[in-house]
Parts: sequence; C-alpha cells; structure tokens
Amino acid sequence: MIELIDVHKSYTKDKETIKGVSFEVHEGEIFGLLGPNGAGKTTLMQMIATLMKPTSGQILIDGLSADKNLLDIHRKIGFLTNEIKLDPMSTPNALFEFFAKLYDIPDSELRDRRDESFARFGISPFADKRFKELSTGMKQKISIAISLIHNPPVIIFDEPTNGLDILTSKQVTDYLKELRTKGHAIILSTHIFSVAEELCDNIAMLIDGSIVAQGTVDELIALAKVNTFEEAFFNIYVAHHKE
Ligand SMILES: Nc1ncnc2c1ncn2[C@@H]1O[C@H](COP(=O)(O)OP(=O)(O)OP(=O)(O)O)[C@@H](O)[C@H]1O
Ligand SMILES: [Mg+2]
Repeated sequence: MIELIDVHKSYTKDKETIKGVSFEVHEGEIFGLLGPNGAGKTTLMQMIATLMKPTSGQILIDGLSADKNLLDIHRKIGFLTNEIKLDPMSTPNALFEFFAKLYDIPDSELRDRRDESFARFGISPFADKRFKELSTGMKQKISIAISLIHNPPVIIFDEPTNGLDILTSKQVTDYLKELRTKGHAIILSTHIFSVAEELCDNIAMLIDGSIVAQGTVDELIALAKVNTFEEAFFNIYVAHHKE
C-alpha cells in the first residue's frame, strides 16, 4: 500500500537529510520508523503524506504517485503530525464538521461517525470547548479522530503517542492495533523503542537519514546477537550513530 523507492531529500545544497530510503508497508501491517531526534522521521512522513516532494526517488500509495494522482491519494491517507497546531479558538465539533465537509461526508453519516469516535476517546464532554482549554492528550486524541474521519486505508502517524500519559497512550496504541486487524496499512514514527517493540510488525531503524537495520523485533534481536529488543536498539544505535 505504501512503497518507497530510493527516496532522497535535501533541504539545502550541502546536506542530504534522507539518503536513499526504500521500503514497503502492506495492508494489515504496522510499520515502525524508529530513530533518534533529527534522524529524518518527520521529513519522511511528510513526504509520504505528499506535503513535500522527495529530491529524488519515488513514493507510491496504492500504486499511485502524487505527481499524477494527488487527490486520489488524499482520499486514501490519514496523516497525523505534531507539527500542525490546532486553532486555539476553534472547537472539536467545528473542526470535525470542517473536515467532514472537505471529504464530502454526508450530514447523515457525520453525526454517527463523530459520536462513535468521540465516545471511543472520551472527547464528547469537550466537543464544544475551545482548543485553548483542552489538555495535550485530549488535543492529540481529537487530532487522531479527525485524521481518520474519512476511514482511510493508509494511516501515517508521526509520533502518535508523544507527550501522552500511559493511559492515553494505551488508548491510542489499542486503537492502532484494532485498525491493523481491519486491514489498514499503518506507518508510525517513534523515538521510543518500547512503542516500536509493542506495536510494530516490521521496524526500520532510521539513523542520520539512512535505514541501518530492518526487520521484526525477533529479527533485529538476532541481528544484534543479543537477548532483548532494548539491547538490540542500543547496540545498533551505538554502531551507527556518528556524533
Ligand atoms: N525545513 C527544513 N529546512 C532545513 N532543514 C530541516 C528542515 N526540516 C528538518 N530539517 C533538518 O532535517 C533533519 C531531520 O529532521 P526531522 O524533523 O525529519 O527529524 P525527526 O527524526 O523527525 O526528529 P525528531 O525526533 O526531533 O522529531 C534535522 O537535521 C533537521 O534539522
Ligand atoms: Mg519528528
């Protein structure tokens, strides 16, 4: 569902931020991009979500490329990132309605979808409060609900549990597991090895713009010749991190 072929990205002439990344994410799979601060996770996620073009290489969503099929891709993807801030004066209900209209979701369906997703995340009592009054966790849950309003087959979540307490974090990871069983193709980025270990079927370790190791938790443990994923993560990280 998601295919990257030798993707490169340079923000400036003298530095390459993404240095030739290739991988595939399939239906019913959670793929994890695991890497430290500055590795290039957000850069890659934004390119997959078509917000930015690669300098070279190809990104396909369900076989489609953003050059020719941008609108079709937008209907197929749900994107979440911490980089976008919610308007402090707006409300969950208003934002939900805005995106429902954007995606042509009929009024009759809108109410059911909103009630279901707001109830799942405990948003309902806050639905008419302004964002400036809401907690980080509540805003993150609302962003997740809204990013999936059109039930996209492809889910692109940049650090979805960042800044969340353990209960809120569990609500989010449980939801992602449920979406995996429903056959969605999910890519998430994280710098926390335990999030990748718990959730991901396939993990790519991104360091300094390159994938230095990729596989299941067990494969990465075997590759590093250690006993736990925590040790594997640190060994691989130390072996490849230059600073
Ligand atoms: N718009 C930009 N212009 C120039 N350089 C940028 C730009 N955005 C990011 N970078 C640089 O690209 C590199 C990768 O940044 P990116 O935000 O993709 O990393 P990340 O893995 O998401 O890090 P974090 O864990 O801190 O979110 C960093 O060195 C960053 O400074
Ligand atoms: Mg980032």
